[in-house]
Amino acid sequence: MFGIFGIVTLLCTYSFSNDISSKNKLQEPNEVYTMYCQNCHMADGKGLEGTYPSIIKSGFLTDPKKAINIILKGQSGEIIVNGVKFNAIMPAQDYLTDDQIASVLSFVRNNFGNKGSKITPAQVKALR
Ligand code: HEC
Repeated sequence: MFGIFGIVTLLCTYSFSNDISSKNKLQEPNEVYTMYCQNCHMADGKGLEGTYPSIIKSGFLTDPKKAINIILKGQSGEIIVNGVKFNAIMPAQDYLTDDQIASVLSFVRNNFGNKGSKITPAQVKALR
């Protein structure tokens, strides 16, 4: 009795958790994102409804200059992200080094449904 039930439960649990982890799996975890962005934009990049915008398929990340400036200078005032209006404040993350900003932007520009070139520390330095 228990044997069969146990195996069925195990199989269900396994396939269920497997499903979830493969769906949300990022190409490579990024330390900078986890420490400095995830609080607001969340691990899955979806943000927090009405408060923090999603960075999934974000037009704000396609242009390297725009993306770098959001991190260096912050972002405030009304913006529309994928059809949803936000009017909040993202503090400048300019305490991050050029390397950290290059790393996190290369990461977000190639995860969460975004596609873009790598950002180099020199590109960040030029705009700082
Ligand atoms: C304290 C919360 C907070 C943190 C930390 C934060 N952001 Fe934001 N971010 C926001 C808010 C709020 C906005 C929208 C501001 C507005 O309404 O003008 C935003 C906007 C953005 C945007 C443009 C809109 C969009 O959703 O595409 C990008 C890209 C972005 N953030 C990336 C990042 C990255 C990368 C980091 C980490 C280096 C980060 N943010 C850290 C709160 C935060």
